[in-house]
Amino acid sequence: MKKIPVIIDCDPGVDDTAALLLAHQMPELEILAVTTVAGNVSVDKTTINAMRVRKASGAGYPVFSGAEHPMFREPVTASGVHGEDGFGGVEMEIPDDEIPAEKAWDAMYRIAKEQKGELTIVATGPMTNLSIALSKYKELPQLVKRIVIMGGAAIGGNVTPAAEFNIYVDPEAADMLFQSGIPVYMCGLDVTMKAYITPEELEKVGALGSPQAKLFHDVFQNLQKKALEEWEQPGVALHDPVAVMYAADDSIFETHHVGIRVETKGEITLGKTVTDLYSDKQMEHNAYIVMDVDRDAFLKKVMDLMAKY
Ligand code: BDR
Ligand code: CA
Repeated sequence: MKKIPVIIDCDPGVDDTAALLLAHQMPELEILAVTTVAGNVSVDKTTINAMRVRKASGAGYPVFSGAEHPMFREPVTASGVHGEDGFGGVEMEIPDDEIPAEKAWDAMYRIAKEQKGELTIVATGPMTNLSIALSKYKELPQLVKRIVIMGGAAIGGNVTPAAEFNIYVDPEAADMLFQSGIPVYMCGLDVTMKAYITPEELEKVGALGSPQAKLFHDVFQNLQKKALEEWEQPGVALHDPVAVMYAADDSIFETHHVGIRVETKGEITLGKTVTDLYSDKQMEHNAYIVMDVDRDAFLKKVMDLMAKY
């Protein structure tokens, strides 16, 4: 089987950590690079965390660091959710590997050229690195096969009633992506809230016994408490794992070809992903929205992949 060449652009982040642990074991994917961006925490921390996960999973991909702040706005973080260091309070030594001088957007362009139109980019943080790459390299849209993002929602948001975190942090960047001409597959809250893991299921992952399974279990502990007690959810939503899972195999998901743009001017609606999915007023169909997942099949994959460590 020919593997799908991917770059994972992320802001680890506890669910980004889970996504990276899972992606490393997916037989369909070849991770060519991980790029980091400011989002859940500052980019120096997301870069350290990406290197921590690389070390923990025994992977060899390069980690390139990217944007320190959104295109036109002040940074917004989610350290209240992911912990001060973005690693869910898990203590892990900081690897002393050198961070390459090449920036995330330059690596994206170089690798896209090397892959001759076959590259998939999975973005699980704010889309700032992608927007810089698109601004700097005008031919990039012709070089990327597809982009799968975790972000947005046809339904309500999780930062404001209108907006999901990754889009809210850098709405201009996200809108640039939707207008780029690259096929964008949006795994937003519509689907990721259905891809939750219950406390019992998370315990089962931890009980697999490997250090990686323990890491998966441990990073979610604080967030799980919030999800169950504060937000009254049945478990922790595996937001970012959905995007990597979708990139590898979209057969367990329900997808619709739609129009999507991002509200960049509104006060109450800032960062809303506006789609014509529920409207008879049609937009240009520039993107795909992922609305549903077979949760049992998804969880089985999570277990099977983590059992490979
Ligand atoms: C998204 O926001 C971040 O906090 C998570 O890592 C995920 O990418 C969910 O809205
Ligand atoms: Ca993320």
